Amino acid sequence: IPVEPFDLVIFGGTGDLARRKILPALFRRYCAGQIPQDARIIGAARRTQNADAYRSFVAEAIREFSTPRHCEDGTLEGFLSCLDYVAVDALGDEGWHELASKINGDRVRAYYFSVGPRLFGPLAQRTKAHGLANDQTRIVVEKPFGHDLDSAKALNATLADHFHEGQIYRIDHYLGKETVQNLMAVRFGNMLFEPLWNSQYVDHIQITVAESVGVGGRGEYYDRAGAMRDMMQNHLMQLFCLIAMEPPAKFDPDAVRDEKLKVIRALDPVEPHHIVRGQYLAREGEAEEHPSYREAVGNPRSTTESYIALRTHISNWRWAGTPFYLRTGKRLKARSSVINVMFKDAPHSIFGADAGRHANVLSIRLQPNEGITLKVTIKEPGQGGMRLVDVPLDMSFAEALGPEGQDPPDAYERLIMDVVRGNQTLFMRGDEVEAAWAWTDPVIAGWESRGDVPKPYESGSTGPGDAELLIKRDGRRWQGIN
Ligand code: BG6
Repeated sequence: IPVEPFDLVIFGGTGDLARRKILPALFRRYCAGQIPQDARIIGAARRTQNADAYRSFVAEAIREFSTPRHCEDGTLEGFLSCLDYVAVDALGDEGWHELASKINGDRVRAYYFSVGPRLFGPLAQRTKAHGLANDQTRIVVEKPFGHDLDSAKALNATLADHFHEGQIYRIDHYLGKETVQNLMAVRFGNMLFEPLWNSQYVDHIQITVAESVGVGGRGEYYDRAGAMRDMMQNHLMQLFCLIAMEPPAKFDPDAVRDEKLKVIRALDPVEPHHIVRGQYLAREGEAEEHPSYREAVGNPRSTTESYIALRTHISNWRWAGTPFYLRTGKRLKARSSVINVMFKDAPHSIFGADAGRHANVLSIRLQPNEGITLKVTIKEPGQGGMRLVDVPLDMSFAEALGPEGQDPPDAYERLIMDVVRGNQTLFMRGDEVEAAWAWTDPVIAGWESRGDVPKPYESGSTGPGDAELLIKRDGRRWQGIN
């Protein structure tokens, strides 16, 4: 369904995120017929260049980063004709007048702040002061939303000086992933799971977001952040909330975000012995191609973690006593994001001790190979008595849903279109972000005060050995990364 014509200004329109994600996403939506021809997409950045030079830059970005699957001849030209460019000084007055002259009357206006957080305030202030904002204005901001609770509060306060909460779209691109939304569909669209979704039937839950890539060219940012700030505070926390929250009364922005907020606020502080931090080493013989973390970030003494595993608990009626194990890291064995809901053993085995222990596991694979597997116990085929065996009931979304399921819109496509439509359900509210930092800050302060040094792990492995112990001590084990 096409959206109404809109104006979208991308501050940082020549930056890396614009090039790799935002512009290719817009192009794909254009190809899908969702963006009307008279929509305006205006790149804004410091560099002086004309609109044609910007169009060439965008065409190049699209060639490099967009799969041109629905693209017919002439589509790229059509898209490029929606584009414009203005050189704007975020910290001065240059260019703002020209930008204002390009913005249309009453249609939706969205300003994408694809810039570092220190520019959020100046951009918000100038957007307002130069008359670029109206009631229909939305601003989009990227993570990292702050470095800790204080900085997140300061950012929220700065944005609130110029825009109200209903106009602010804080992106966590995990929420735009098709399969992440599917978490809600699986939980709340089926009668089967929800009655068992609590501490009485669930032994524990594991959330794994493993990456095979390293820190790449983002060493400077990453070394100040680490896995806890870069991934745990936001992406894993969002997955965690969707898995653990109470059913919202409606699928609407505040109903969903209220429930997520309750989960974060009910989190227990993490015990120091329930945290394992790791840092990757180069794999033998591959040091040149894939350097160690310290080399990649250019800091030989770095104590920043590229891996974290922790165990946490939610103090509420539904989850009292149920551990949640969360882990994420870079340069691991494979790229694999999966949530495993580990059910308890049957209370009594009628087949006797020989049948062994069997428990159901619901695995929700977020990426790659998106789908769901339910491990169920059946009789082992053959004659000799009643022996049991676990088999997977396996469903791949791509296979089950056909072409539609094989090529869903990517996270940025969905999220940008939601901004244009004015739907905040998949964006983080200010209080949610602050609550997540309020939980994260003491964890970080704790290891800093203890002088904790991350455990080394080899690139291409499953992470530090201590992370295995973290869960093994409780008589459990991680489900494999593959
Ligand atoms: C980003 C992090 O938010 O998410 C990166 O800053 C990480 O460090 C990326 O690699 C992972 O996203 P995805 O979509 O590839 O799982």
